[in-house]
Amino acid sequence: MTFRIHTYGCQMNVRDSEAVTALLEQAGHQPVADERKADLVLVNSCSVRGKAEDKAIGKLRLLVKGRRRHPARIVGVMGCMAQRLGTELFDLVPGLDFVVGTRAARHVPRLAEAAAAGAGPQAILGRLDDPEVPHLHGQGALSAFVTVLLGCNRRCAYCIVPDVRGPEYSRPADEILSELATLAGEGVREVTLLGQSVLNYGRQKTDVWAGAAPSPRGFSEPFPRLLEAASAIPGIQRLRFTSSHPSGCTAELARAMAELPPVCAHIHLPVQSGSNRILRRMRRGYTVEQYVAAVGRLRAAVPECAITTDVIVGFPGETEEDFEATRALYRQVGFDNSFIFKYSPRPGTPAADAADDVPDAVKDERNRILLEDQDRIGLACNERWIGRETEVLAEGPSLRNPARWSGRNGQNKIVLFEPRGALAPGALVRVRIDRAKPQTLYGRIVGEE
Ligand code: 5AD
Ligand code: SF4
Repeated sequence: MTFRIHTYGCQMNVRDSEAVTALLEQAGHQPVADERKADLVLVNSCSVRGKAEDKAIGKLRLLVKGRRRHPARIVGVMGCMAQRLGTELFDLVPGLDFVVGTRAARHVPRLAEAAAAGAGPQAILGRLDDPEVPHLHGQGALSAFVTVLLGCNRRCAYCIVPDVRGPEYSRPADEILSELATLAGEGVREVTLLGQSVLNYGRQKTDVWAGAAPSPRGFSEPFPRLLEAASAIPGIQRLRFTSSHPSGCTAELARAMAELPPVCAHIHLPVQSGSNRILRRMRRGYTVEQYVAAVGRLRAAVPECAITTDVIVGFPGETEEDFEATRALYRQVGFDNSFIFKYSPRPGTPAADAADDVPDAVKDERNRILLEDQDRIGLACNERWIGRETEVLAEGPSLRNPARWSGRNGQNKIVLFEPRGALAPGALVRVRIDRAKPQTLYGRIVGEE
């Protein structure tokens, strides 16, 4: 059959959709871009905020309704919302064919085929501690996501992720490294190592390096060792990782980022709030001072390191003073970019027991103010690049203006530049920056690697 997957949410979902695409292809099915031509339409859903779930449910209802014109269409749902709501989804979306949990994605082909044979509604949620998830990829990509750590053992008060993605499981290092070598052999130049709290890699399951030779550079922590070993794989020109928690920003991590050429000078380090009172209530496990110290350690080792973050506005009990503390932290750290979210209570999380007492209008206002702060601060960060050269992984013509090419530098900034010569996607080019916007750098090529 033909199929189309709609993906919502984070990189972890993007990665899972890629794996399910490969599984369906292996089973003899064909991906199509046009949903109207698909026999199977699958929604890979996110649960992190109520809005994300509403979106996925709305989409699923539309897909089922669309059967008036596409009577044979099979509709399935996977991902975090599928895990959270399970068979309840058959009531919320009458006519839905199947529901697959976050660690049960390998069952998708079988469920889709059974649905096509008239099996009726089916759900496989699987076990949340099941480590046997598929790690497959598509062909021909420049960049790939590789999951190194499944699940999350933290219990941030607002977060549904541990409930829907299960406990942490660190994959054995040799398994990850052979996946990277295969990807490199297929032409992948840039790899992003994924985990909800990726720096926790190997911290609980301490045998990930069992039987391996000692680290050449003397790293003793499992994640810096992984960066070191991945950097040694020929063809992997860039290594990224996300998402990070300050507790993992150790001296070894800083040294790994400074010493290993493929490791990009960027860290996504969600802070969530700049108020110690709110951080405590969020159970984030650090203070503002500890967060700032973590940033300081990284910057001391990698002065050019870009720092991006996530912030939640309107967490229960957030006062004007707490919010001003977040604004002050923005000025102090000077984030290159940030993602700002309005607090959304998630059923079953500790924070959901507290009243969602910041009015929506106030959340909107705080969201708007921080966005403006970020624009100003991000522009100042980017203007520092004017007149300097930066290395860009060329991706291809920009969608908005095909006369220009687009790519990203190590700091993960979008760089738009005039192409020159026989430029191919995947080329590493040196670009001299002559103009900056809050989210974009502009320049021209001055050399190719
Ligand atoms: N409400 C709002 N934002 C949330 N996030 C996680 N849970 C919630 C919630 N309940 C945000 C955090 C996290 C990002 C992925 O989503 O900022 O870092
Ligand atoms: Fe959620 Fe905290 Fe885990 Fe991040 S570290 S996924 S915020 S529980």
